[in-house]
Amino acid sequence: MKRDGACNSLWQDTTQNFNGKKIVVNPNQVFDVIIAGGGITGITTGLLLQKAGKSVLIAEAQSPGFGTTGGTTAHLNTFFDTPYNTIQKKFGDDNAKLVAKAARQALEFIKRNVEEYQIDCGYQQLPGYLFSQDEKQSKELEDILKASQGCNVECSWSEHLPVFIPFRKVLQFDGQATFHPARYLMALAKAFENAGGVLLENCRITDVEELESGNKVTSNLGSFTSQNFIYATHIPPGVNLLHFRCAPYRSYAIAVKLDQQAAYPDALVYDMCDPYHYYRTQEIDGELYFIAGGEDHKTGHEENTEACFRRLEAHIRKFFPVKEIVNRWSSQYFEPTDGLPYIGHLPGHPGNMYVATGYGGNGMIYSAVAAITLTDMITGGESEYEELFDPNRIKMVAGFSNFVKEAADVVGHLVGRAILPSDKLGELADMAPGEAKVVKYEGQRLALYKNENGKIFALNSACTHIKCEVAWNSAEKTWDCPCHGSRFSYKGEMLTAPARKDLSPVEIRKEEKV
Ligand code: FES
Repeated sequence: MKRDGACNSLWQDTTQNFNGKKIVVNPNQVFDVIIAGGGITGITTGLLLQKAGKSVLIAEAQSPGFGTTGGTTAHLNTFFDTPYNTIQKKFGDDNAKLVAKAARQALEFIKRNVEEYQIDCGYQQLPGYLFSQDEKQSKELEDILKASQGCNVECSWSEHLPVFIPFRKVLQFDGQATFHPARYLMALAKAFENAGGVLLENCRITDVEELESGNKVTSNLGSFTSQNFIYATHIPPGVNLLHFRCAPYRSYAIAVKLDQQAAYPDALVYDMCDPYHYYRTQEIDGELYFIAGGEDHKTGHEENTEACFRRLEAHIRKFFPVKEIVNRWSSQYFEPTDGLPYIGHLPGHPGNMYVATGYGGNGMIYSAVAAITLTDMITGGESEYEELFDPNRIKMVAGFSNFVKEAADVVGHLVGRAILPSDKLGELADMAPGEAKVVKYEGQRLALYKNENGKIFALNSACTHIKCEVAWNSAEKTWDCPCHGSRFSYKGEMLTAPARKDLSPVEIRKEEKV
């Protein structure tokens, strides 16, 4: 299974490539729904719609799970990064209860899928524990308990914490769950095809034109038409209001084997640091793996992403008897400005174009909520969650103006097509193998990477979305854009929207002697 970076996730290494049907689409066929993106949102939504009698085409630019679904740590929770006390304050009591209801419905929906399709994904129901380590956190925990119980979320104080980390207070949430996200995804993709859906891999959508009724969708594999269109690409491509209402973040995860069987927690556990750490166990093919995550930061805002892994590893070794590191990987998520995801009509497109994004660190549950909500909207014209998650809602909250400023700050970094004389390379690229940097050459800014064999890859450093300057991610060997999260390989290939195009290469020429 392929992913969008150099690090392999535990899921990748334990999942077969998707082996889908080879389908030739009749160019005259009009689909009820076309979905861009074969991650957990796109495939779950596609399956629900197909089962509801709609004809669905899913276009995946790479292969299923290539993006964040293959890099999640797959926590299935009834509580979120934005706690219920914050949701109550921003959205009111009734809406906080509705969020809790959506979470419960999503969890039950995932469980039903596992049972119905008999998915071998190690699905397990477990309690979750959130613990405080100082007085301020304990006070916050009290507020979280009160608000969660007010939203009918099952939780209570616990004397017990299933990891050996010092704590003050512990809140226990019942009815949480874990699973192997990639195996779950592949099984749903198969079910989607078996239900008559069309899943095209390596199908990159390059344009969507809204017609009087429906959409004309252009891709590298040809043109298709549909009544409805859904962007399930984690963030929509192009330029949209949502790029100013979501901020990209990167999170780190490590999977290890522990020395003592008893040290594997039989639960999901979270501290309250900022950013917080999270711990859980996953059984795969009879083997136990301990997974820990954290060290989150805004995309492109950490100079040394390798150091994030080192800090996370040091943290794990402090509290757990590590025998062997098995996998380490990172992935990107989008934080919404007001704390809730955006699911529904794409801003600026009130008709039949939809989007789901801004899940924060709760993508497994919110992807199921998105599938349920979008399916109800498309098949029945409405959903009880439509207003709550409306991407067109206006909530001017702290942080919003910063997002806009960050984008505006860097527009000046536009660079044009560059030619780099080869004899300048040595001078500019005083780099060790494996190193990368952005350099200035004759008023232009270039993104340079030297591979392990000493070959230099030179690119224009202006992101092809709206021209912010990309930053090097040494751990994943990618160029990441700090503004809206577009990501590119060191060769410049576009890996992650909202950009639609590759970074342009810089031509390296031998200077002519006259
Ligand atoms: Fe928007 Fe790069 S992602 S400018």
